[in-house]
Amino acid sequence: MPVLIKNGRVITADSDRIADVLIEGEQIAQVGTSIDCSDAEVIDATGKYVFPGFIDPHVHIHLPFMGTNAIDDHASATKAALAGGTTTVIEMICPGPDDEPKAAFEEWKGLAEAGACCDYSFHLSVVRFDELAKQQVRDLVANEGVASFKVFLAYKGALDIPDEHLFELMEIATELGVIITAHCENAEAVDAMQKRLIADGRTGPEWHEPSRPRCVEADGVSHLCAFAELTGAHVYIVHTSCRAAVEQAMEARDRGVNVFVEAVAPHLVLDKTCAERPDFEGAKYVMSPPLRDAAEHDHLWKALASGQMLTIGTDHAPFNFRGQKDMGLDAFTLIPNGIPGIQERVDLVHTHGVCTRRIGLQDMVSTCSTNAAKIFGMYPRKGEIAPGSDADVVVYDPTYEGEFTHSESESQADYNGYEGMPRKGRPDIVLLRGQIVARDGRYAGDGGGGHYIPRQPTH
Ligand code: URP
Ligand code: ZN
Ligand code: ZN
Repeated sequence: MPVLIKNGRVITADSDRIADVLIEGEQIAQVGTSIDCSDAEVIDATGKYVFPGFIDPHVHIHLPFMGTNAIDDHASATKAALAGGTTTVIEMICPGPDDEPKAAFEEWKGLAEAGACCDYSFHLSVVRFDELAKQQVRDLVANEGVASFKVFLAYKGALDIPDEHLFELMEIATELGVIITAHCENAEAVDAMQKRLIADGRTGPEWHEPSRPRCVEADGVSHLCAFAELTGAHVYIVHTSCRAAVEQAMEARDRGVNVFVEAVAPHLVLDKTCAERPDFEGAKYVMSPPLRDAAEHDHLWKALASGQMLTIGTDHAPFNFRGQKDMGLDAFTLIPNGIPGIQERVDLVHTHGVCTRRIGLQDMVSTCSTNAAKIFGMYPRKGEIAPGSDADVVVYDPTYEGEFTHSESESQADYNGYEGMPRKGRPDIVLLRGQIVARDGRYAGDGGGGHYIPRQPTH
């Protein structure tokens, strides 16, 4: 049956108007005023915003990392995504140094096919880089719809890529027209700082941030951008936490480097005092790059408003407080890095960005949906409300007021990093390719149903 969303305020990256949206099958059929369709199921969106389905360009679901595995599976993480208005995620495939890229792709895709409730695509981390891996990387781009790689400049001895490999990978990316996404922190500096702090008996989670201060991140960005300048690669800096790092990227952009910069929700609303909470509670907030001084929030929001930063993801990386985070009770270096947040992102951006007038509603759509679709080759199928686009639509209630709480989380993590924080706005109804999959901020689908979104090189 067709679905007709009536009288909503339809907000896209480049328009904002009262309109009706007619959905036929899995696609949007028509957008306009006074659309009639006698056999349609009607959703009255009077007083509501109607957004394109949100896209999270940076999530971890299946994540073997730091001696454990992230706690969500594809079902729980994508139910959480949909409950929060996110209809497409791009997950990082993170194989270990001995794993073949093709086997990793098949493993991750198989898990997603079995469980994902929202649509999904992948960034492929390149860790192993011998001749076989290089060939497989090329095959995955040519035949499997992989259009972005991931590199870690951090995590020495585990996931980090040596410069020799990085340079060659960037040459291959340029040749193939795919983009390199990068975690930018100088791995050697972090390693040295960690050793010094632990030797001095500074072992608690509050020492995580001092072990990788802002200059370490800015240095990573500068390094990646130098390689991008030399190789012509397009680069996308993930989870950028501070002004110093954004400035390095902007200097490179001014030199002609094709660099895109991502923010993630924790850096926009949480700060380093969270990691200083007593009784090891701070471990819940250990992520990398770390949470910074609260003064950074304004810089990041301004960078989003001005277009220096183009996207907002979550870096959803859920580890239980009990049984996982507490692996680092004796040394912060052993705390699995990451904070859950796939469900909370959209409402956090609405609460802390739009309601405080730091960004506008159309900025919210650009940064949380459309720009990711464009940068990563999914536009206009995703990130748009227009005839022919997938009918991924969020009917959003801007008047809802409540607070974030673990009891409403679909994620399997045993805590909510935003617990008790005020929440203004909530998705009323979320549609994925024409099907209602969430109501009133809760998952309401039948399980499964997510599709893989293969992508083409973008440049
Ligand atoms: O702390 C984080 N960000 N954990 C997930 C892995 C990564 O670096 O993105
Ligand atoms: Zn990272
Ligand atoms: Zn990440």
